[in-house]
Amino acid sequence: MSKSTDELFKNVISHAKEYGFVFPSSEIYDGLSAVYDYGQFGAELKNNIKTYWWKAMVQMHDNIVGIDSAIFMHPKIWKASGHVDGFSDPMIDNKDSKKRYRADQLLENYIENLKDEVLNLTVDALEESSKPDNSPVPIRQINEEQLKDNAKYQKALDIERRLNDLLIAEDLGGLKDLIIELKIIDPISKTANWTDVRQFNLMFSTQMGAVADDADVVYLRPETAQGIFVNYLNVQKSGRMKIPFGIAQIGKAFRNEVIARQFIIRMREFEQMEMQYFVRPGTQKEWFNQWKEARLKWHLALGTDAAKYRYHEHVKLAHYADAAYDIEFEFPFGFKEVEGIHSRTNFDLSQHEKFSGKKMQYFDPEIDPETGKPYGNYVPYVIETSIGLDRMFLLTMINAYEEEDLSTEEKQDSRTVLHLHPCLAPVKAAIFPLTKKDGLPEKAREIMDKLKIDFNIQYEEKDAIGKRYRRQDAIGTPFCITVDHQTLEDNTVTIRHRDSMEQERVPADQLDKIIGERVSWRNLLK
Ligand code: GAP
Repeated sequence: MSKSTDELFKNVISHAKEYGFVFPSSEIYDGLSAVYDYGQFGAELKNNIKTYWWKAMVQMHDNIVGIDSAIFMHPKIWKASGHVDGFSDPMIDNKDSKKRYRADQLLENYIENLKDEVLNLTVDALEESSKPDNSPVPIRQINEEQLKDNAKYQKALDIERRLNDLLIAEDLGGLKDLIIELKIIDPISKTANWTDVRQFNLMFSTQMGAVADDADVVYLRPETAQGIFVNYLNVQKSGRMKIPFGIAQIGKAFRNEVIARQFIIRMREFEQMEMQYFVRPGTQKEWFNQWKEARLKWHLALGTDAAKYRYHEHVKLAHYADAAYDIEFEFPFGFKEVEGIHSRTNFDLSQHEKFSGKKMQYFDPEIDPETGKPYGNYVPYVIETSIGLDRMFLLTMINAYEEEDLSTEEKQDSRTVLHLHPCLAPVKAAIFPLTKKDGLPEKAREIMDKLKIDFNIQYEEKDAIGKRYRRQDAIGTPFCITVDHQTLEDNTVTIRHRDSMEQERVPADQLDKIIGERVSWRNLLK
């Protein structure tokens, strides 16, 4: 991370704390590693991101419904899903610093650094030449052809291939050998004094039942998806759903991440927004491509620069997938996965059929044109879209954050502003009486009482108007409304726009329309 991006990231983290978005969990006890709490504005922003996702996925699709399944589930579910045996990361310790790392990530960072060295030299030319016209595909996709003679880039690709082979073969010794061969050192101890690579299961377990001895071990779910799979027949039958159909869910997931880093990017308790789309076998590729595009569009509708996004295709596929892409966002510390689109085959449903002994089949009455007969019984294939809410939250904060220099020749001035999309802004408008007397507070409260039914509104009367503007800019409030003496005469107010800082005089009884138009979900969903 360069100094300025490093600084930007640190500033966003302290801003998030100072203005009530994100606090370290259990802070008065010195915190709990990789666990965070959302404050008063963080909770609002998070809820708005959830609403955007829920509306786009559930409300806008008449064949997708939402559920809310329990975190605790029968322990056999995690055996069936493969998580008990396979949900682990390859870890390596440095004997000098006593720090633990994910072996695959040490190697991935090495590869990324090599690639970055090459791309930083050529990125301008590459971006221009690889940009498809009018395409929502991020322009940072790399033009491999132009780099075929670049030795450093080819070396990076070669190591990448070797890494993928080792991961597919689960060759832990080979991973260590590669780390040693590339002379990768621990950033803290600066030595290559490594232990062997070992697998580490990421699931948290606890006991259910009053007496510890005979209690059953249960797991805290590491993904919300399994709650959807085990309810697939309940929903299909009770909702009379016809394939293709989807089931969506937002909820907490838990992973005992060994390396918890980068603020809310990698947490031990986090939230996922997942949708499983059940399709006829053989059609999964088509649906996979559709969802891959639809999900990127959802991100870009917020106005984010397309160059900040890229797709990343998985070479090493999870045990359940036959294709997988990540949607990655360029955080200050590099591109990181925000969302995964996975073609999960019929693996999960078939496994649950096997482990539970219950049929997971769907009867498809549609006529197969090839045979002239109904498609009949089958276990559906599944396309999954899975986005981390906390990563989306961080992405939104980083994207919105600006330290703006407002200095003029006469005076130095600046502000920190969150240019949040109005639909996502925690507070939609703030109402300020110009002074605390002459009936202005009463008038301001009267206006607020009308607006607060539809919008989250804040009332502020402390400090000069300029200071109040700055506080609202810092939390991303799109409108500030000032009630002054003229308001008492003609019922007009001053409305000040966050991004342009322009002010206009408008009738108070038009405020609900002005605010309503800007914060309407139509702006994102139409
Ligand atoms: N059901 C599929 C699944 O869970 P995943 O790629 O492991 O796939 C999906 O997770 C998303 O959940 C990721 O793209 C990421 O945004 C988020 N996520 C995963 N682990 C996380 C963690 N430890 N902290 C925060 N978010 C996480």
